[in-house]
Amino acid sequence: MGSKCRSRTTESVSRPVIRSPRLELRITEAEDIARLVAQISDFEVAKTLARVPCPYREADAEAFRSAASAAMALGLDLPLTIALDGELIGGIGLTDIRGGCDFGYWLGRDYWGKGYASEAGRAFLDHAFENYDTAIIRSGVFIGNDASLRVQEKLGFEVVGRRMVHCLARGRVIEHIDTMLTRERFTSLTS
Ligand SMILES: CC(C)(COP(=O)(O)OP(=O)(O)OC[C@H]1O[C@@H](n2cnc3c(N)ncnc32)[C@H](O)[C@@H]1OP(=O)(O)O)[C@@H](O)C(=O)NCCC(=O)NCCS
Repeated sequence: MGSKCRSRTTESVSRPVIRSPRLELRITEAEDIARLVAQISDFEVAKTLARVPCPYREADAEAFRSAASAAMALGLDLPLTIALDGELIGGIGLTDIRGGCDFGYWLGRDYWGKGYASEAGRAFLDHAFENYDTAIIRSGVFIGNDASLRVQEKLGFEVVGRRMVHCLARGRVIEHIDTMLTRERFTSLTS
């Protein structure tokens, strides 16, 4: 899965900056809002995410940023922007760190197919297992999202079940493949 020293984290746990060879994972700034709205309001992106409305407006982005900042300050979530050359190209994060510990990510359509999700995911998970004592990180994909399932497979996630999950952008429940990654497996694949 690559060398052990694939990512570098600076600053504090509450305001991390995670660096991978091409990307920076950092908090979402006010200056990112326009790019966030432009990229995530694409139905092809939103339809694969559970909780992203479509259309996605500036007010949705502002609400996300403010909720993200509050949840991060309490250590509940870790929602980060994926930046390339300083510009937002997507998002990645953990929600409910002390509970289910759910991992999610997305990229604007112009940035698909370049290995960015795998690279960001690896650096992010490295940081997460290093900084939180969780033994398990959960994720999954809506049925048909084979590119994302492949990303998770490369990161070490294993399929653990299926259930119906509501997709806000599609306005209905859709079959969802649940996956799970253990600390042990991630460590064994990356060491
Ligand atoms: C899913 C998503 C994150 C993938 O990002 P990406 O940067 O293109 O992913 P990567 O390039 O790192 O890896 C994609 C892998 O899937 C493979 N792949 C691409 N399309 C595929 C398909 N239709 N079927 C199977 N595998 C596919 C690629 O070949 C690559 O695998 P490889 O490295 O073994 O060749 C991106 O398409 C996206 O943001 N989609 C919308 C939001 C989303 O789905 N988020 C995830 C929710 S679970």
